[in-house]
Amino acid sequence: MDKNFLWGGATASYQCEGAWNVDEKQESMWDHYLHLQELENGDIASDHYHRYEEDIRMMKEGGQTSYRFSLSWPRIIKNREGEVNQKGLDFYHKIIDTCHKYDIEPFVTLYHWDLPQYWEETGGWLNLDVCQAFEHFSEVCFKEFSDKIKFWTTFNEPKWFIVNGYFIGNYPPGLQNVQKTMIAAYHVMYASALSVRAFRAGNYPGQIGVVHSYTPVNGVNDSIETKIAMRYADNYCNNWILDTAAKGEFPIDLVAKLSESYDVSFMEEEHLSIIKQNTVDFIGLNYYARTLVKPYTTGETQLIFNHTGKKGESKVVIKGWFEQVKDPNSEFTAWDTEIYPKGLEDGLIEAYERYQLPIFVTENGVGVREDVTVDCVNDDYRISFMNDHINAIMNAQDAGCDIRGYYTWSPFDLYSWKNGCEKRYGLVAVDFDNNQIRKPKKSYYWFKEIIESQAKLI
Ligand code: BG6
Repeated sequence: MDKNFLWGGATASYQCEGAWNVDEKQESMWDHYLHLQELENGDIASDHYHRYEEDIRMMKEGGQTSYRFSLSWPRIIKNREGEVNQKGLDFYHKIIDTCHKYDIEPFVTLYHWDLPQYWEETGGWLNLDVCQAFEHFSEVCFKEFSDKIKFWTTFNEPKWFIVNGYFIGNYPPGLQNVQKTMIAAYHVMYASALSVRAFRAGNYPGQIGVVHSYTPVNGVNDSIETKIAMRYADNYCNNWILDTAAKGEFPIDLVAKLSESYDVSFMEEEHLSIIKQNTVDFIGLNYYARTLVKPYTTGETQLIFNHTGKKGESKVVIKGWFEQVKDPNSEFTAWDTEIYPKGLEDGLIEAYERYQLPIFVTENGVGVREDVTVDCVNDDYRISFMNDHINAIMNAQDAGCDIRGYYTWSPFDLYSWKNGCEKRYGLVAVDFDNNQIRKPKKSYYWFKEIIESQAKLI
């Protein structure tokens, strides 16, 4: 690996900070939704708000060189008028300064799903005003932190929070409406371009990208019908984010297909030209699994997401487009995620060929139930998972791809959206029942050795 290759861990504000109503932080749409439904929530989570120093120090002691985290919009902006909360800014200054103190490169996400509830109440991502509000929030952050930050990203995984929030309905705002899904998706990509425009206009140092939940698409065979299904799946899973952010264009065949059944008049010339002119400097790819598909021509659309951790519950079939199938030879987690490292290698090669932009693997990890009362969790499955995925990255590099970093999800255990804290991804165990005590798992020490052995090869 190149000596500047970044090795680290990624988190999101809502999933780890806790302190949900402390120091004038406003309610986020996730606070509101989970409180209302009386579900397990991130009120305390990993208590990173109070323990960030310990967490960042452990990253350093674990050999890591970068920390990817998100800024909470409702912690920083108090209301729809855009008033700034100095205490929120102070908190992120402390995080960033602690990173620098330990020689850890901070890698910032502007939006990891915690929309302020005061904006959700006006329609959230269905309201065009929220795009301007996001631009304002971005500018506040650029002005405040840009002398300390080299890497910015606008959105974490537009596909995931839009599809789950507006199409499947398992995330807030809990809608199941295709027309609204399209509008929200469009607004988010427009807001991302506005943020990139503000970054360039301010001549801030560093680079700006977008982070995508990348599921490269494979077909069950080589038939023409399967190839068509693959194209639908690729448009649905990947292209509407990556083509739009990296090339400045929504996939033309996707727009044509949707316009047969839905109203696309919200796509205005002025927005499209801003999207075209404000493409990203790099791509962040979160990789958990691929999408294996076959044609699906009859029957109803059905999207079911596994939040129980009981194998076999999930289903993705979109009438007339594709059906997601399970490879009988693959291993799956209890939450139905296929373990398929080859998908990362193939996907990186494909994404690099298409976009010719530097790539960071901004998330990769495996979520499992673990007993964290032991001294050191023996997570050999995680070691083998990470080992195989890091090898996949090296293979893609050997094939000529420009890959600049690897972030494990996650450096320590945190709250998993709608799954609660029992679905653990961390290299450091957090005992949620015992004062959030931290204890490194076996994978933490293994990752340190990998990073150090790579450094020796340089
Ligand atoms: C990514 C997100 O989709 O995957 C994270 O960026 C998320 O926020 C991670 O936690 C794992 O997903 P889950 O649903 O298992 O928590």
